[in-house]
Amino acid sequence: MNFSRNILITGGAGFIGSHVVRRFVTLHPDYRIVNLDLLTYAGNPANLKDVEERENYVFVRGDICDAELVEELFSRYEIDGVIHLAAESHVDRSIVDPLAFARTNVLGTLTLLNAARKAWNGCWEGRRFYHISTDEVYGALPAEGGLFTEHTPYAPHSPYSASKASSDHFVRAFHDTYGLPVVLSNCSNNYGPYQFPEKLIPLFVNNIRLRRPLPVYGAGENVRDWLYVEDHAEAIDLIFHRGTTGESYNVGGNNEWRNIDLVRLLVATTDRLLGNPEGHSSSLITFVTDRAGHDLRYAIDSSKLQRELGWRPRRSFEEGLEQTIRWYLDNDEWLENVTSGAYEHYYEEHYAKR
Ligand code: NAD
Ligand code: DAU
Repeated sequence: MNFSRNILITGGAGFIGSHVVRRFVTLHPDYRIVNLDLLTYAGNPANLKDVEERENYVFVRGDICDAELVEELFSRYEIDGVIHLAAESHVDRSIVDPLAFARTNVLGTLTLLNAARKAWNGCWEGRRFYHISTDEVYGALPAEGGLFTEHTPYAPHSPYSASKASSDHFVRAFHDTYGLPVVLSNCSNNYGPYQFPEKLIPLFVNNIRLRRPLPVYGAGENVRDWLYVEDHAEAIDLIFHRGTTGESYNVGGNNEWRNIDLVRLLVATTDRLLGNPEGHSSSLITFVTDRAGHDLRYAIDSSKLQRELGWRPRRSFEEGLEQTIRWYLDNDEWLENVTSGAYEHYYEEHYAKR
């Protein structure tokens, strides 16, 4: 089959990546999608079992830091576009093991940039390197007032956000130095199906289900701006196709929640869906020692993306949150698999012998 484009998506077996891969494989059947993922603890190829047999989908287990492999993929699949999502993504893990974050997020991004530069070798027409980043690079906002814009100076606080900020700088440096056709976006907190249950929403739904404590950091006063993952995937599709080269776009839900208010809503909704009496799981809420360097507030101004590319988040938070909680409760086997480690066999059973 002749494909109109050959796109390398990195980190496609993770949370956001799996939604992006599914969207591209199904909505753009004339594109070949090559998903390069190392399958760390956060990667689960079963997240994509509904599309794994599609003719336009190729899965490669491998490391974005492996220059030889990445260069070989550019050549074998005649890659003309990159959507780069692979990363170490959890702030708490970055506090424990910062070097892992520098390796994957900085060196891995640099390896991909260098492979694209060499493969495309100055022929930039029809080529694009899209780097997916986070609002955490901007640091923290005060409790009230202010939004991150594309012009907010970078001020990362955690090893995770410092590594993402560093990767963003390398992406811009490759544009400014070599002319590589890059585009970037910085998004707020995503939620939805297939998120690893170390992040707030799936962790707490799982803990409510199992009657375990819900560890709220500090006083629960920190504020996050939540966006449904498929709305982010739609923004990624738009930016990849129509974003201006060299530019970055902020993506956010205009949907700020104090952690403690979100946790109360989560508890009430999960109890209702489980058929528990009102207030049944409130006693599981436990205030614990705060995260070191915990950013107080994130909030995104996404007016540039809305104005220039016509993007809007489609789901209301109440609708998206209920749908998400229902998904985790209906997919308790997925939760059991990723928390027990059983999901690690999926690759051997479905891919390794091919
Ligand atoms: P995730 O942790 O769920 O998935 C990361 C994926 O990358 C996994 O499949 C993992 O196996 C893969 N990976 C890790 N190291 C690799 C390596 N060396 N080589 C190849 N693959 C590797 O992450 P996520 O939450 O889906 O985030 C995806 C991207 O979006 C990240 O770049 C993250 O910084 C960014 N982001 C996330 C959010 C969010 O709320 N989750 C918000 C804004 C931006
Ligand atoms: O803002 C975008 C970022 O959002 C992404 O770049 C990151 O990859 C993603 O992990 C997310 O980072 P956060 O640190 O905001 O997400 P997390 O789900 O870990 O935490 C959300 C908030 O809840 C945060 O203020 C910390 C708090 N929290 C988290 C956990 C896991 C708790 O109070 N208790 C917990 O157990």
